[in-house]
Order: sequence, then C-alpha cells, then structure tokens
Amino acid sequence: MTTLADKPVEALAAPEAVEELERLVKAIAEADRLYHQEDAPELTDAEYDALRRRNTAIEARFPRLKRPDSPSDRVAPGPAEGFAKVRHSRPMLSLGNAFDAEDAREFDRRVRRFLNLGDDDVVELVAEPKIDGLSAALRYENGRLVQGATRGDGTEGENITRNLETLDDIPKTLPDGVPDVLEVRGEVYMRIDDFAALNTRQAEAGGKIFANPRNAAAGSLRQLDVRITASRPLKFFAYFWGEVSEDIADTHWGFLEKLNAWGFVTNPLARRCATIEAALAVYDEVGRQRATLPYDIDGVVYKVNRLDWQARLGMVSRAPRWAIAHKFKAEQAETTLLAIEIQVGRTGALTPVARLEPVKVGGVVVSNATLHNEDEIHRKDIREGDRVILQRAGDVIPQVVRVVTEKRPEGSREYAFPQSCPECGSDAVRPEGEVIRRCTGGLICPAQAVERLKHFVSRDAFDIEGLGAKQVEAFWRDGLVKRPGDIFRLAQHRDTILEREGWGEKSVDNLLAAIEVRRVIGLDRLIYALGIRQVGQATARLLAANYGTLDALRVAMHAAHDSESEAYADLVNIDQIGSSVAQDLTDFFAEAHNTDVLDDLAAELSVEAFAAPTASDRPVAGKTVVFTGTLATMGRGEAKARAEALGAKVAGSVSKKTDYVIVGADAGSKAKKAEALDVPILSEEEWLTLIGNGSLTD
Ligand code: IVH
Repeated sequence: MTTLADKPVEALAAPEAVEELERLVKAIAEADRLYHQEDAPELTDAEYDALRRRNTAIEARFPRLKRPDSPSDRVAPGPAEGFAKVRHSRPMLSLGNAFDAEDAREFDRRVRRFLNLGDDDVVELVAEPKIDGLSAALRYENGRLVQGATRGDGTEGENITRNLETLDDIPKTLPDGVPDVLEVRGEVYMRIDDFAALNTRQAEAGGKIFANPRNAAAGSLRQLDVRITASRPLKFFAYFWGEVSEDIADTHWGFLEKLNAWGFVTNPLARRCATIEAALAVYDEVGRQRATLPYDIDGVVYKVNRLDWQARLGMVSRAPRWAIAHKFKAEQAETTLLAIEIQVGRTGALTPVARLEPVKVGGVVVSNATLHNEDEIHRKDIREGDRVILQRAGDVIPQVVRVVTEKRPEGSREYAFPQSCPECGSDAVRPEGEVIRRCTGGLICPAQAVERLKHFVSRDAFDIEGLGAKQVEAFWRDGLVKRPGDIFRLAQHRDTILEREGWGEKSVDNLLAAIEVRRVIGLDRLIYALGIRQVGQATARLLAANYGTLDALRVAMHAAHDSESEAYADLVNIDQIGSSVAQDLTDFFAEAHNTDVLDDLAAELSVEAFAAPTASDRPVAGKTVVFTGTLATMGRGEAKARAEALGAKVAGSVSKKTDYVIVGADAGSKAKKAEALDVPILSEEEWLTLIGNGSLTD
C-alpha cells in the first residue's frame, strides 16, 4: 500500500500538498523537540533531512501553500524551558553545506565572483574539522567570563553560564590585553571514549542512555543541576567570535593564534590553505584520520581567511557567504542480517533490532543495528538472511540503509512483524496513524511490569507509605510482587521480608499497615494507577465520574471495543476523550491478561465509587451539559472547570443524553441540534443562576 507520504512531490495534487505540509510540520517539530530538548532523537539524520527536503520541495512546487509555521523558516527550535533566555549580541549562524568536491569548488568561485577577483588572485582558506557537538557563546568582560549561552534558535539561546564554567577547557579569566568585551564561540563536545564510559555508568545506575556523543554532550550541558554537568567529561574547541570591542586580528588564522595565546583550545588539525585544492587535500587527510580521532566530526569547514573579505561577503539566509561545511559521506559496510529480534521497551514499545554478522563500519565493530519500526522494515523489505548495507552517520547505533537484493538467498520470506508481545504474549496493537506497535499487557509484561508497579504505588495512585520505587524493584526481583494484587498479599511473606536487609519488625509492620489502609481506594485513583496509556489523573477522574463503579467501567470498556457500539459513542462523547484515548482504553480492557490482573486486584480491594458531589444543593450534579458559542463572563476552560466542580459532566457534542446546552454568542449547529432533540437550552445568565453563580471553590 502506498501512502500519501510516499507519493512523489510532482504527483501531488494541491489538497494532498496541504495535507502533506501539515504532516511534515508536525513530524519535523516533534523530531526537533526530541533532538534538541529531550536529547533523544528517534529519527536518523538521513530520515530527518528527508523530511525537511520533502517539505522544501512541496513548498517550491506550491509556494502559495507554504505555512506560516513552515520549518524552512526556522533553523532549530528555541530554548527549552528552565534556563533564562539570552539574546545573542550577533546571531549565531549556521553553515551552508557542500556534499562533494565540486560543491566546494563552486563555493570558491562564488567567493571570487562576489569579491570581483580573478582566477589568479589568491583566496586563502582555513580548513578545520567540523566538530559534531553543540555550539556555545562565551562572553568575557574585562577578562572575566560573565556569560555563557547555547545557540538556541540562533537569535536567542539559554543562559548556561554556570554549566559552562565547569568545563576545564573554558578559561574563567583571560590574560591582560584582551579586548574589554570579547565573545568567543565554539563547540562543546564529548570524546568518544568518555561517552562510552558515561553510558556504562548510566546503564549501571539505571539512568538515561545517550544515542551518541553529541546527544550526551547536549544532555550533560543543559542540566539545571550544575553538579551533574560538572561530573560529565565535556570539552570545548574555540573557533569563532561574536561581539568584540576592538579588532583582534586581520585573518581567521591570526584570530585562532590569539585564542590559543589566551588559553583557549583550538583544533590542532586546522590548516591554512592557499587554494581550494589544498583545502580539498586537507579534507581527504582529515577524512582518513576520522575513524581514529578521539571525537566525532562530520565534515571539514572552509573559511575565507581574510577578515576584511569575510566582512564584505557577509551572510545570506542565516549562513555566512565566507564559509562552507564540506560534509563527510556516512561510512558504509556490507554484512549479513542474521535475525530480526524484537525488544520490548519499558513503555511497551516493540522495537525491531537487526542482529548482524559483526563488521567494521567507521572504525567500530558493529553487530546490532536499529530497524526503527514495522513500516521501516516493510518499506525497505528487510528479511532475515539478507545481505544489507549498514551506515554509521554520527550515530553510534548504525542504520540499515538498504538490502542488496541481488544477493538475497533463495526461499527468503517477507518479515512478519509479531502481533503479540514476545515477552508476555499479550496482544501488541498499533493505533491507526501511529508507527509504533505496543504490548497491551503492561501490568504483567516482564519488560514493563516494574515500571508499571512503580507507577501503581506512586503518590497520585495508591500512595503506599514505605513502598516506593526502590522497594517495589526489590520485591519484584525477589519474586514477591509480580503484579499489583501481590502487594496486598505481602503479609503472607512477612518472614521473607524480615530476612531482607533494611527491614526490621517495626518497618515491616508499618508497611503492612500502610498497605491495609489502601485496600479501600477511590475509583479514580485505581484507574490512574493502572497506568493505561494516555490516561492521566484528569482522564481517570472523568472516567470515574462518568461510570461510577469499577464494574460499570469494565463492562462499558469491554463493549466499547466495538467502535460501532453505543458504549463507544458514549465514551468519546465525554469531553476530552478522543478516539485515540478511547482506543488505548478499550485495548487495555480487551486484553485478557489485564482482565486477569484486574480480577486478582479487585478481589483484594474495596473500590469506592467516585465521590462526585450529588447533594441536592448542587442542582447540576450528575447532569451532562454542553457549552457552545462564546461566553461573556468566563472562558470555556473556566466554565468547564466550574461545571465539573459542581459534579456536572461536560460533553463535547449534543445528544439525547444531554441535560442542558448553554449557549453563548454566535452559537451554531450545537444549539440547533439541541432544539431538534428537545434538549433544554440555557443562556449564560440562566446557567449562572441555576448553579447559584457557583464559584470554583464551592
Ligand atoms: S564556524 C558563522 N567552525 O557547525 C560560522 N562551526 O552547521 C560559525 N561547527 O553552528 C560556525 N565545528 O555549531 C564553525 N570548526 C567549526 C565548526 C562549526 C562545528 C558547528 C557550529 C555551527 C554548525 C553549523
């Protein structure tokens, strides 16, 4: 099946282009967020570039359809929350790319044309490695480091002065004679061996594993707790300047020499080149050394050496005309794919991994590669036994680029992605429009159970005193608690627990007493504790209010598995519950393993119906209401919150079950539908009178 996403740009009709541009803006924004703010990219560089290229190509074909929020107008997303913002004195630019020697020669010709120079004039260049890290700006006033910032979107970054101060490579004070104001820019990076050691430590401590040295550097630098940054092995190469109160040098090379003299580290592989051909020779030489360099680089930057020429050349669309990044080709190798294995993550995501005959790519022996997801396997038609081309492009985890179909063994079969979880056998489902298939047996699946149990006992869920994440993990390891119901049978293991380190008579008795207290639990807390995808506290409360008892909820969710059913219509008619949440809910209750776990748990508990206010002085308690049009005295959010505080259910659309429709100005079809169904219609004033002007604190 070909989807719109696969359709060539030339073949798109305008409405399809609109749809594609919308999809792309979302996909790129999400990828940017994961990359820059979470330091956890899910796309390879090549996949990401492909999205941006497609977006640009569609915009070029349909210029009028270009969106105001088009990613082509942005370099990178703005600062993450948590750090103060810093406006850069001069924008932090990006670099244009050259992908081959011809692109690089064209750069040289462009420079000459712009400066009106002939072929015989010497345009000296500096060639230096392009470090794969993240750029930072250091501001010195009167020789003291006063501010350090990330690049952010190039105009505005984050103030990470205290973090940058922890780097040994960054001088805190400069020798006499430096300009009063001096802003030095450069790249923060992590060495490959330091990165590997950090990941080992992280794995042992159960911390976050970084995908590559660049992400490790970014994640380590942008820590609100600077002690964490200080404990990470970050380094810095200086290569450029921002605001300066006086001229420093006549050439880039001279500037680098000054930086060295002032105590900054500059890259030792930088070379002065009389011609572009000499620069290309540096590119080849650095390329040869790449696999054995202690840090990742992704190209060589060529910069016009004379600063007066740099000034004349200026910049175009956020990149200087006087510099270009000549990128390295991703390193590739061929090997045999021995097997496709499915790993189940802590959130239940099924991720395919390629087990490979070990092969060297870019100086590293690899025996595993990520296959991303089901679609990716099918798109590339990757099969067990295939010869495949691997690529390592900056990322430590290599990618399978393509299959060498000519070498496909006879009798090979298309890969069938498992429909059930390889860890626990529960159904693995893939909601429409999503790429990831997930195991629905969260509460029993060994890959997920510990995380789920931790959530189960967390503060907003069962909140059992003395039973935190640490204890849950230990009980899980010892086999005492495998599923939630086991918690309530811990008393049977009193002696076993007593033998464990850290437990005494008193603490065990306290724990068992705390568990007893929680045998009585509110329905909303119980629903939340189940850890169903997308079901947070607010949704749990809505469900509890709407269904009242655990049995009613279970019956309804079971029935709602059929999306044609009335139960399903009722479910999605609850305001804020859309089809995606509904799917996660009904999938959860349809999975037999979950039903077992729930039966087992329910037998231990006494579940209290949701304590919705029902007193007669609350005339709207239990009523279903719909707001439509613009309200005069309050926003929609407040209206809804007030109604809910009084025990009403707020629905999104009008049906026979609606008790009141409250109409504001410019109400449209909902008011008409209410009329047609004979549902009482109230003005905003009438509604306020009915609820006694009920305020939120009622
Ligand atoms: S010069 C105005 N030199 O590459 C030009 N950039 O793709 C400023 N980078 O944002 C950049 N190594 O983070 C320059 N030797 C180097 C570099 C380098 C890495 C990064 C830098 C920049 C990005 C642009």
